Amino acid sequence: MGSIVLDNIQYAYGEYRGLDGVSASINAGASVAVIGPNGSGKSTLLKIINGLLVPSGGTYTFDGERIDGRFLKDAKRAKRFHQRIGFVFQNSDTQLFSPTVYEEIAFGPRQMGLSDDEVHKRVLDCLSLLAIDRLKHREPHHLSEGEKKKVAIAAVLSLNPEVLVLDEPMDGLDPKTKGAVREVLITLNRSGKCIIGATHEFDYVKGVFSRALVLSGEHTVVREGNFETIVRNRAFLRRHNIL
Ligand SMILES: Nc1ncnc2c1ncn2[C@@H]1O[C@H](COP(=O)(O)OP(=O)(O)O)[C@@H](O)[C@H]1O
Ligand SMILES: [Mg+2]
Repeated sequence: MGSIVLDNIQYAYGEYRGLDGVSASINAGASVAVIGPNGSGKSTLLKIINGLLVPSGGTYTFDGERIDGRFLKDAKRAKRFHQRIGFVFQNSDTQLFSPTVYEEIAFGPRQMGLSDDEVHKRVLDCLSLLAIDRLKHREPHHLSEGEKKKVAIAAVLSLNPEVLVLDEPMDGLDPKTKGAVREVLITLNRSGKCIIGATHEFDYVKGVFSRALVLSGEHTVVREGNFETIVRNRAFLRRHNIL
């Protein structure tokens, strides 16, 4: 079930390095924070995990299957993979495109070919989990940042993925919304979903992550371990320009 193994992953944007030899293992059901200074490669790593970018070197294995350019070009297998692992973009506008919140959340399950009843049930469940029922007839692009983030999370969850990947999920949210998103992430992890998130808001994600993967300015892993232990080590965080 959904374990992730990254072995010596390299990624280059033309002449610019994105990742330089990243290795990590993430078990099914884990909760892992990806930490590092700006430009260390957090977003690049999350996009590779989600199959949005293909590594230029090294191997990525999801549930025993190698995820590479060939795998992702196989439409049927790629579709199944994208259903099992969901991505919440840092900027919600990148992923919201439907005329209403209801349609936004229904889109994924409809694509999966679920019956109208099942789609409707999933939409209601996700609206309720994110406490956004009152927004269902609204146009996603007219909502506040916090509301958009909740809709984006709901739209990914309606596919019922095993792994939820979030890039800076607290970015641009007010404290109350950060608290609400935090509660949802904790609930989801308790229900067995793997949560992987890039973050620098250590206080606001308290209780969400049990592990942390730390990337350095050299785009590689400098530490992997218990989340609380790592974020309490201020000297270490300062040394790596994270604080
Ligand atoms: N589209 C791009 N073109 C060129 N360089 C990029 C692009 N996206 C990211 N990079 C570079 O790759 C490195 C890692 O970026 P990123 O993964 O966005 O880091 P982070 O999310 O940790 O801030 C940075 O040095 C960044 O400048
Ligand atoms: Mg980033």
